[in-house]
Amino acid sequence: MPLTTHSTVGDWLDHPVGGPIFAALLAEGGATTDSLSPARGLPLNQLVAMSGGKFPAAAVDGMLAAYRQASPEDAAAADAAGEPAAAWTEVITPGRFTGQTVIVTGAAAGIGRAVTSRIAREGGRVVAADVAKEKLDELVESLAGTLPPGAGIVPVAGDISSGDDVAQIVRAADGRIDALANVAGVMDDMSALHEVSDEMWERVLRVNLTGVMMLSRAVLPVMLAAGHGRIVNVTSEAGLRGSAAGVAYTASKHAVIGLTRSAAVMYAKHGIRVNALAPGGVATGIPIPGAAEFGAPVLRGYQSNIPSLAMAEELAASIAFLASRDSTNVNGAVIASDGGWSAV
Ligand SMILES: NC(=O)c1ccc[n+]([C@@H]2O[C@H](COP(=O)([O-])OP(=O)(O)OC[C@H]3O[C@@H](n4cnc5c(N)ncnc54)[C@H](O)[C@@H]3O)[C@@H](O)[C@H]2O)c1
Repeated sequence: MPLTTHSTVGDWLDHPVGGPIFAALLAEGGATTDSLSPARGLPLNQLVAMSGGKFPAAAVDGMLAAYRQASPEDAAAADAAGEPAAAWTEVITPGRFTGQTVIVTGAAAGIGRAVTSRIAREGGRVVAADVAKEKLDELVESLAGTLPPGAGIVPVAGDISSGDDVAQIVRAADGRIDALANVAGVMDDMSALHEVSDEMWERVLRVNLTGVMMLSRAVLPVMLAAGHGRIVNVTSEAGLRGSAAGVAYTASKHAVIGLTRSAAVMYAKHGIRVNALAPGGVATGIPIPGAAEFGAPVLRGYQSNIPSLAMAEELAASIAFLASRDSTNVNGAVIASDGGWSAV
């Protein structure tokens, strides 16, 4: 099979001509082919889009040129076959959120941004909350003039772990909250229990757990008064196992599952459903604050278990489903959107 930019990273790495070209390019940047194991299923052109500039389009152009020069017959065959369809493309459900207001946190980047964009394009009014004001404004601008009638994004620059900011986010919803997607979160430095600092523990638990509790607590009176509502809490593979992150992040994401199940039981008879979504590896550029001396090398050994890396839009597809009426009858569930990692 001739290689193209649509071929997967794995196809490139395993190819007798393409593999050494790819390996040489990685070596120039100080990386090894092993570092791309979780991305083996990704088409090469998606790796560019998801790498945040670490793997630029010019590098792919260079690889392709070297490959075509080394294998002119393959190049001719690829040209004759034309462009294949992309592996997965987002197909929205127009009107699914028409007339509804949804609060999305972490809306300025990564998964939250993809969720905000999707729900707005599906007709919803999204209260988009994040600490990163400039990026929120950029998102609003990028969608200006493209949204269906009645849809829109109301940006709110705020911290979900501050009482005043939480009140501001809820106020922006203007008395109607059909769904809340608690997406905002921060990573830890992979530290093990004996080396975690008070600061790391406090920050990760405050944002990932206390923030989710505070905003959910603030929206519930509105949902109880309306007699309906959906809450989606983003946990993680680290909420399902002990080998995906450090102790603080792992504890915070396990706790989010406990919070989800408690709330699912408490409000089941009030029309409010609360579910958790556990992403596996997602290429978002979520900041990882350093690498703890003891914990990080231990965890590295488990990374080969990650079957694939997803795009933020793939997670948005799962979260939008849970936030929508389509998830009727799903309550207290922890749904993994991880390419099968949790089954390993
Ligand atoms: N990327 C992954 O591989 C992955 C895997 C599993 C789970 N998750 C979870 O998915 C969620 C989104 O992650 P992402 O990869 O999109 O991260 P990201 O860093 O790309 O986006 C997170 C957003 O949350 C915002 N944020 C951080 N703290 C906040 C606060 N206190 N108040 C308001 N906004 C705040 C950030 O400014 C950022 O815009 C997180 O909960 C994360 O733990 C991510």
